[in-house]
Amino acid sequence: NAMFYWQRTAYHFQPQKNWMNDPDGPLYHKGWYHLFYQYNPDSAIWGNITWGHAVSKDLIHWFYLPLAMVPDQWYDINGCWTGSATLLPDGRIVMLYTGSTNDSVQVQNLAYPANLSDPLLLQWLKYPGNPVVVPPTGIEDEEFRDPTTAWLGPDGSWRIAVGTRFNTTIGTALVFQTTNFSDYELLDGVLHAVPGTGMWECVDFYPVAINGSVGLDTTALGPGIKHVLKASLDDTKVDHYAIGTYDMITDKWTPDNPEEDVGIGLKVDYGRYYASKTFFDQSKQRRILYGWVNETDSEADDLEKGWASIQWPVEEVESLRLNATVFKDVVVEAGSVVPLDIGTATQLDILAEFEIETLVLNSTEDEVSDCGDGAVDRSTYGPFGVLVIADDSLSELTPIYFRPLNTSDGSLETYFCADETRSSKAPDVTKRVYGGKIPVLDDENYNMRVLVDHSVVESFGEGGRTVITSRVYPTEAIYGAARLFLFNNASGVNVKATLKIWEMNSAFIRPFPFEETLF
Ligand code: FRU
Repeated sequence: NAMFYWQRTAYHFQPQKNWMNDPDGPLYHKGWYHLFYQYNPDSAIWGNITWGHAVSKDLIHWFYLPLAMVPDQWYDINGCWTGSATLLPDGRIVMLYTGSTNDSVQVQNLAYPANLSDPLLLQWLKYPGNPVVVPPTGIEDEEFRDPTTAWLGPDGSWRIAVGTRFNTTIGTALVFQTTNFSDYELLDGVLHAVPGTGMWECVDFYPVAINGSVGLDTTALGPGIKHVLKASLDDTKVDHYAIGTYDMITDKWTPDNPEEDVGIGLKVDYGRYYASKTFFDQSKQRRILYGWVNETDSEADDLEKGWASIQWPVEEVESLRLNATVFKDVVVEAGSVVPLDIGTATQLDILAEFEIETLVLNSTEDEVSDCGDGAVDRSTYGPFGVLVIADDSLSELTPIYFRPLNTSDGSLETYFCADETRSSKAPDVTKRVYGGKIPVLDDENYNMRVLVDHSVVESFGEGGRTVITSRVYPTEAIYGAARLFLFNNASGVNVKATLKIWEMNSAFIRPFPFEETLF
């Protein structure tokens, strides 16, 4: 089906066919980035979950490898579910993952590479003593999953966290201690718990430096370090995180701001993005985040397309930039749309800066709130931004925009939004307005970076303070018909836009050429 072919991404990782969900056990080993992922080899809908495996030298071009793990033991026969890798100081690699047993009990299992000297880590062995952790007393059999990467405590033993919930509503993460990765002890108390957040899936827990941009190994301890706790909320399918302080003696984490706690404050991404997981890239001293961009089309469409879901690009994506077009100081008057003549607009990297011309704050509070009902909803200073994946007649379009709002105390509060409501004429596609509040400081202009890759649009506001991933399935704005526009639907101001737009190359994502000599 030609239309479905158009929707396949050109530089986001996707399996060759069929269903993918969470990224699993990302790691860097002997020159290769390894990505494992929840994969159904038989169908484009969830089920029969195995570990797909792919490797890359640069996080852009990927090779598909044979499946790393399949459900073939009583303790994972209903699925090899999500897990994480830990690199031990002596060079060994430990993989912990959730198995759904023959009785559908969620247990934690241990696996490791058969041959550490194999850069491709092709063969994985499951520990014969599995499972290594079973649901503790008081925890439901089917609510105990997705072990984190382990971190080393000051007492010399390792810790992992596993997500669950208490009394169906209190989302939480239990901490287990181990010295050998085969025997575990449940620690008293929990890492953290938040009432009303429900089941915590895919917990991620890692240190960040207060100053500087260098990433930290999961075990980093000491002053100048904060810890991020992330949970994927099963009830809403949203990844939430918060920054806080980890007490390594009591193994408790406390949010810096209780009002912005996990699940009630910041989102990793305000659009279609779930089950994210980070790892420390020791080759470049940075922490990389992968996420699962889930679907907005129907299961029936997924079956027809024969594939579902993709992952997240990193800074190496700039190696795909081809020719650039620059637009300087384009005035977009209140209530107007300006075409940007760049030809086909299906694979783009867009940097856009906006200035509001003569912003005089009036004292009336805007009636529109947050992202409003989308880009058609006018307020004094917004919305303004770009229209991506639009056709010439603007019958299909996806606005990515800023909406500065006048608040009751006379100050401005800005929202960064993506409006999918007119992205497609197809009836059976989920189309929503997504977005979140974005800090814009007094001396800053409004800036966004937008990656367009066919059915995926990733939007980063103010250097990534607020991120929105969109999934769009147009029927007309496809192939050569896809265009790019500027728009300003504010009722009270003109905006001036400056843009640099790169056409993007496609990545090579193909089966590993075992016959060729690559190393
Ligand atoms: C999150 C999740 C995990 C589970 C896996 C199963 O999307 O539900 O909690 O381990 O997917 O595929």
